[in-house]
Amino acid sequence: MSARRLADDAVQPPTFAFTAENQRWAEKKIAEYPAGRQQSAVIPILWRAQEQEGWVTRASIEAVARMLGMAYIRVLEVATFYTQFLLKPVGTNAHILICGTTPCMLRGAEDLREVCQHRINHEPFETNAEGTLSWEEVECLGACVNAPMVMIGNDAYEDLSVESFETLLDKFAAGRGSEVKPGPQIARQFGAAEGGQTTLLEPPTARRTYKPFPPPPEPAPAPGAAVATPAPAAAAPVATKPLEAATNAPTKPGRKTGAVPDEAAPGLKGPPGSPKAPMAAAEAERLKADVAANADGEPNRAMREDATGAESPAGKIDAGKAPGKPRRRNAADAEPQVGGVSPTRETGRKAKKPESDV
Ligand code: FES
Repeated sequence: MSARRLADDAVQPPTFAFTAENQRWAEKKIAEYPAGRQQSAVIPILWRAQEQEGWVTRASIEAVARMLGMAYIRVLEVATFYTQFLLKPVGTNAHILICGTTPCMLRGAEDLREVCQHRINHEPFETNAEGTLSWEEVECLGACVNAPMVMIGNDAYEDLSVESFETLLDKFAAGRGSEVKPGPQIARQFGAAEGGQTTLLEPPTARRTYKPFPPPPEPAPAPGAAVATPAPAAAAPVATKPLEAATNAPTKPGRKTGAVPDEAAPGLKGPPGSPKAPMAAAEAERLKADVAANADGEPNRAMREDATGAESPAGKIDAGKAPGKPRRRNAADAEPQVGGVSPTRETGRKAKKPESDV
């Protein structure tokens, strides 16, 4: 896997701001997460930023971090981990993902890649001369039955041949990509058989009638057991509380009526059996982590492209040695030999000192 780094400063725009519509969308998205867990919206918000800009800029990473109250480095980690986030400018009309995994490769993905190398740029992630198209090879995109295929934006174009792919590229290069219908580019309905239906051609002959599943029979009473008499049908009416009152009833002394306890917040539940973190404690932990990470709203220069590593004190701590790691013994430390043979090896028991040493 290649290292994923931010694009050069020369192509980074100085600022980023969501459009009014995207800003509203982002605020709504953040509000979907439980209190104290808004940072979980980082992926959809970053994705929206990419959809707006065409790629993930450094300014957009910093803006998303500020929006979610996160350290810049944490958003950078997300952007650089997922290969779906594009870290440098790509084609303005289309960035083409060519599936190169086995089924697509066996059905002609390498030919499609050669088309891209000739028509767009020999190197992936580089644009054509007009800056309208770029490409990259990716792993399986889940449409193997319609191989080979490519993905552009959110749409898959399947059952491609060199000719149909060239036509598709022409349309996208001219800014008329919306004219290409996503899905199979041959006469095939979704993933159904090529050329039409080949099975289930006769009309069904069996008549299907619904019969409710019969309940299991009552177990036979054990021999000699007293036969239970059925309870009287009508018992005295039981007073029922209104649902709301029952829900709001305090379950423990000291707990506010109607309040949802912190421990019950869905986002704070751990694995079964583990203690649940109170919301206030989780929030305090998050804030502490932000302070420790120096998330003060200023860019962390150490994450920058021009960082040399000299900023990090890691190499000065233990000179690269893991603490507690046993040192390898050298020849001088080796087991004493008796007559050229290791006494331990020879007998399989702990060696005794030679007589002369006693
Ligand atoms: S192998 Fe290409 S979509 Fe699965």
